[in-house]
Amino acid sequence: MTPDPALDAETPPPADDPSARAPGAPARRVVLCARGLRKSFRMGPHRVEVLKGADLDVSEGEVLAILGSSGSGKSTFLHVLGLLDRADEGTIQFEGRDRASLSSGERAAIRGAAIGFVFQFYHLLPELTALENVLLPTMILRRGGAWRAERAAARARAAAALERVGLAARAGHRPSQLSGGERQRVAIARALQNRPRVLLCDEPTGNLDGRTAADVARLLWDLNAVEGQTLVVVTHDPAIAARAHRVVHLVDGRIVEAPAADASVVAAREPDPGTGATPVTTP
Ligand SMILES: Nc1ncnc2c1ncn2[C@@H]1O[C@H](COP(=O)(O)OP(=O)(O)OP(=O)(O)O)[C@@H](O)[C@H]1O
Ligand SMILES: [Mg+2]
Repeated sequence: MTPDPALDAETPPPADDPSARAPGAPARRVVLCARGLRKSFRMGPHRVEVLKGADLDVSEGEVLAILGSSGSGKSTFLHVLGLLDRADEGTIQFEGRDRASLSSGERAAIRGAAIGFVFQFYHLLPELTALENVLLPTMILRRGGAWRAERAAARARAAAALERVGLAARAGHRPSQLSGGERQRVAIARALQNRPRVLLCDEPTGNLDGRTAADVARLLWDLNAVEGQTLVVVTHDPAIAARAHRVVHLVDGRIVEAPAADASVVAAREPDPGTGATPVTTP
């Protein structure tokens, strides 16, 4: 992986999260750390409070599943976590640096270089071929002369990414000429194009039939198992949740280990007043 120099110039020594470590297991650094995220939307005279102090640590190399009922705020949380949207309050540290307060341009640079997104409805551009769709994140990240200098390497990387997801033979197809599963695999290749440190997936199998969903899930596991890709997956799919290293739930605007059946369990998961951290466990 070739990290973006603009990012790495200011990347501090890795943080270690003891809570994300099984006893005796080697330390894993925290890549993404969210604390106290609050977000509400105004709809006319009403205000919908969606995030009410959500905390989360994502450790390098883990597969983390986020579950929650429809409308609980999972997409909102993922968008804020991935710097696609801003929280009203709270902090997001990416590789140890506070990212919430950066300018739009700086946030876009981090997003483009270090975070990959996969969405339920693919969000491919219909007029571009599969290869061009995969190339797009690099075109956006490197403009003008930088793009011209990198174009050949970026094309080679995009072709390799399509091959990685099993679609080398579909590089010239437009999204309308691809099946749903193939479109999602192109979207995964696009998300991988700039070699992100974290892949954020919002219901990546939500629009696919069972068998195609299983193929896409297998591809994601494989990315983690073979290449150590860190994955955060919002899902309603029990098969994905069952295979994740760690499962958390978004309940009433906060991240909890499991939906609490009684208030005492919720109280036990209140953030530590000293650190602000909400305890989460690693199996
Ligand atoms: N831009 C917006 N303006 C107003 N309300 C919004 C906006 N985006 C989300 N909401 C509201 O915030 C709440 C959470 O939405 P969100 O899409 O994050 O839920 P979700 O957990 O991803 O749901 P699903 O599982 O159905 O995808 C919903 O009540 C939604 O109506
Ligand atoms: Mg959603």
